[in-house]
Amino acid sequence: MRMMPHTNKHNTQYMENNKVYFFDTTLRDGEQVPGCQLNTVEKIQVAKALESLGVDVIEAGFPVSSPGDFNSVIEISKAVTWPVVCALTRAVDKDIDVAAEALKYAKHKRIHTGVGTSDYHIKYKFNSNREEILERAVHAVKYAKKYVEDVEFYAEDAGRTDNEYLARVVEAVIKAGATVVNIPDTTGYCLPEEYGAKIKYLVEHVDGIDKAIISTHCHNDLGMATANTMAGILNGARQCEVTINGVGERAGNTALEEIAMILKAHKGLKLQDNIDTTKIYSISRTVSSLMNMPVQPNKAIVGKNAFAHSSGIHQDGVLKNLSTYEIIDPKDIGLDTNSIVLTARSGRAALKYRLKANGVDIEGEQLDELYQKFLRLADKKKEINDDDILLLAGAGPAGGRHIKVDYLQSVCGIGVKPVASIGIDIAGEKFEASASGNGPFDAAVKAIRKIIDRDTVIKELTIQSMNNGEDDTCKVHIQVEYEGHAYYGFGSDTDIVAAAVEAYVDCINKLRR
Ligand code: KIV
Ligand code: ZN
Repeated sequence: MRMMPHTNKHNTQYMENNKVYFFDTTLRDGEQVPGCQLNTVEKIQVAKALESLGVDVIEAGFPVSSPGDFNSVIEISKAVTWPVVCALTRAVDKDIDVAAEALKYAKHKRIHTGVGTSDYHIKYKFNSNREEILERAVHAVKYAKKYVEDVEFYAEDAGRTDNEYLARVVEAVIKAGATVVNIPDTTGYCLPEEYGAKIKYLVEHVDGIDKAIISTHCHNDLGMATANTMAGILNGARQCEVTINGVGERAGNTALEEIAMILKAHKGLKLQDNIDTTKIYSISRTVSSLMNMPVQPNKAIVGKNAFAHSSGIHQDGVLKNLSTYEIIDPKDIGLDTNSIVLTARSGRAALKYRLKANGVDIEGEQLDELYQKFLRLADKKKEINDDDILLLAGAGPAGGRHIKVDYLQSVCGIGVKPVASIGIDIAGEKFEASASGNGPFDAAVKAIRKIIDRDTVIKELTIQSMNNGEDDTCKVHIQVEYEGHAYYGFGSDTDIVAAAVEAYVDCINKLRR
């Protein structure tokens, strides 16, 4: 390991490289969130949107973890052309064999393997010691190298790993052939200064660091993921691992849109990347809809209020000159501030235009069909917004369900006992039942239980209106426990009870049979 940082000419060369590579892990780390799982068709839709956004690497899944993930990596490999397709593994031979098999159709492929390097992981997760873990890391990289040239190594919990040991591991894996070394702040613990110093330490102390790209991978547990990623980049990291809207386990990962717009806004950093920022808004909407994961209104860059100036002083300034309070142009993220509000009088062309602005490109028969659905909704609701049309476009509950609601009639109010009658279609067979309950949803669930007798417990139910107004569409997320497992469902409708029942039926469709 090198101890004289200032004398090494390679470091300077490395720091002069001004391209930041974007590695998107929405489909792997992002998709690990309970209730956010996508099917293969939806993952392909996201992967293609990521390709047109310009990401350099798409982490498509963890193939050994499930047949679904294995299949998604295969299909994404076939579907995209330019980005590197990456598959995650543990430092386990079998994982690497399966990842290599899943990547066989990728035009550019990478295996992402690694092991925990903090003393917490070494002691409590592996019951091992530093030397054994180092050997395991080197073996995994060499083993992956048998299959692919491009091997990324992750030192899990690097944020809490002693820098000297981390540098030894990084040096050894680069010697073994790693092309990228990922330094995850897995628990989101680091302070930006600390994380930046860690990257600097590696740049200055690892022999051969110029042969690999250093990658950041920061979690947001303490709200510092973006700051830490930037600290890493400013200290020499040249790949950032990010997700759309910052989705990811717990408090999530670093948000792609935040890093991309920081690099764009701070031109003085002289850092380049491949991201077409005008696609940010549409991919944000697509991911939010497909994952049924709302974007908080005050979310940087893509939140509903990100460009809404409401205080009098701000409005006055912005009206005089945008630069008084706006540091980025909404058009830079593809936000159409002149967005057309659709109503029952809007034609197919207006609908197609709004769909396209939201990342959905359809025409012909598909557009005709959607237009009919749109007219039906417009009969119930004065103004149709982007969320409505994304839901209509099928980003809501997945089609091809085994169990469907044919009809629902509920009676409720003040001074009457709530009663629901429901018609259910189970794979083509029709069933009907009625029940009373302490509210219209309770009555409907009791009626469903007369048809489908499962001992489910509703753990959580959230009702969210999409915009405002009494005619708004509402979204319902539900969590149900059944035989010790948690299931998540989603429904949307202008009728709250119908949306909640759809969400419940969405869950029932997913119960293990
Ligand atoms: O957060 C983390 O450490 C990870 C690794 C598996 C890369 O996601
Ligand atoms: Zn992670």
